[in-house]
Amino acid sequence: MQIAVVGSGYVGLVTGACFADLGHDVILVDNDQNKLNALRKGEVPIHERFLPELLDKHRGKRIKFSEDLQAATRASEVIFIAVGTPATESGDADMSYVESVAREISGAVDSYKVVVEKSTVPVYTNQWIQTIIRRNGAHPEQFDIVSNPEFLREGTGVTDFLYPDRIVVGVETERSAEVMKNVYGPLTGGWYYGRSDAVPRPDRAQTPPRLIITSAKSAELIKHASNAFLAMKISFINAVASICETVGANVQQVCEGIGTDSRIGPRFLNPGIGYGGSCFPKDLLAFRSVAKESGYDFRLLEEVIRINEEQRHRFLRKVRSVLWTLRGKRLGVLGLAFKGGTDDIRESPALLLVEELSREGCKVCVYDPAAMERAKEALGNGVEFATDAYQAAKGADAVLILTEWEEFANLDLQHLRSVVKYPIILDGRNLYDPAIMTEHGFSYYSVGRPAALCEETAVRATKKERA
Ligand code: UDX
Ligand code: UDX
Repeated sequence: MQIAVVGSGYVGLVTGACFADLGHDVILVDNDQNKLNALRKGEVPIHERFLPELLDKHRGKRIKFSEDLQAATRASEVIFIAVGTPATESGDADMSYVESVAREISGAVDSYKVVVEKSTVPVYTNQWIQTIIRRNGAHPEQFDIVSNPEFLREGTGVTDFLYPDRIVVGVETERSAEVMKNVYGPLTGGWYYGRSDAVPRPDRAQTPPRLIITSAKSAELIKHASNAFLAMKISFINAVASICETVGANVQQVCEGIGTDSRIGPRFLNPGIGYGGSCFPKDLLAFRSVAKESGYDFRLLEEVIRINEEQRHRFLRKVRSVLWTLRGKRLGVLGLAFKGGTDDIRESPALLLVEELSREGCKVCVYDPAAMERAKEALGNGVEFATDAYQAAKGADAVLILTEWEEFANLDLQHLRSVVKYPIILDGRNLYDPAIMTEHGFSYYSVGRPAALCEETAVRATKKERA
């Protein structure tokens, strides 16, 4: 099929590259000329596993790049809208990009088209897109609007797309449902999974995925409700972790105990410094706002947001309680991205903590495997940027782990201990077994687990060794 994907960001680029791998011909449209030039030259603007390989494989063949949305619409049977929907001051999703894309599409509807909203949007967006396209001249018989929410996690977007738990398609007509069945046929029919050049299957994947066909409004709500539920799971376990800290229990054991109940499940129960990213924070606000407009006061969501913010402040208090005063202290910070596996720093709790610690007078030296470029733009000269984890930790009064990168879960602890000033680690992501840390001579503070303390003499010995 000929498909256009409008918006070549985290969602659009992954979506377009994956459709090409399924055998469709894809035009990736964006209004950012620099981004398009970079993509045409073979650059990959985001850090996503398997994305460079897919773009290399299909660039100039099944994937083309264009700034001309109208031409792309005319050439395509299906047009996916994947432009951003940032939050406004009041928490509503800003739908102006989606609206302007819909307006432009309208002028190019010259035969039957299916316009698919892929961006996370409030309920009723489908109807609005319909209205805008009609208002601008397209005949209602010549197009249908479909809601097809994405459930892609950044960093694992490609495998989430190709090996999904389910595919949700919200339609209002049989005709558009048939088109969407064809779009996803290579996945739901299992054909893709038999291919020798398919992207490797992740451990948990069950194939082929189920196609769930719903009304457009239900699909719109499924997206918001899914993200809100996942965020609620994280805030729930973070609240439990806080209680664990005060009563001296271990949240890891609690998670094992509750996560093995198949009704609850173990995933998204990792406590930490709170969720961030371009989706959860924005979507929670938008869902609360949608609920309010519909006359329902969804106070549970407010509490989820409050617990999430509190989690960061709690961690900051922990740093203070371990180091006493902060002014002039040197901190080695591992992690800036909002989670491991991505270069995205949008709403990153790690970045917010670094900003707060710098404001309090700490000398912060940071390292992240992928997010350094973006972080440099955001943090400016206020912090030092290291070339690896050990350089960041060099001479540090304490090392802070703020992003769950695999690399940070596999540090050479002996090497690390030889470079720090004091062997103190504050882990905001619970990447280590506390016993291993004390074996290596570190005092180790994590989230929801008792602190693992080393003898004070160990600290002095390090200083003496250094002297
Ligand atoms: C996506 C979804 O669209 C959003 O709803 C979801 O909640 C998060 O993920 P994302 O892909 O992360 O957004 O956004 P971004 O990386 O900002 O990409 C959007 C792209 O659309 C950019 O490349 C931008 O240049 C492009 N764009 C934006 C257009 O082509 N036209 C516009 O009018 C606006
Ligand atoms: C999320 C949804 O998972 C995805 O389905 C949706 O389409 C987009 O939003 P993403 O934001 O990329 O994906 O990342 P995700 O893996 O969900 O993590 C979000 C945040 O929650 C990160 O900051 C992460 O560190 C945090 N998190 C996640 C936890 O603190 N604990 C967990 O157990 C899981």
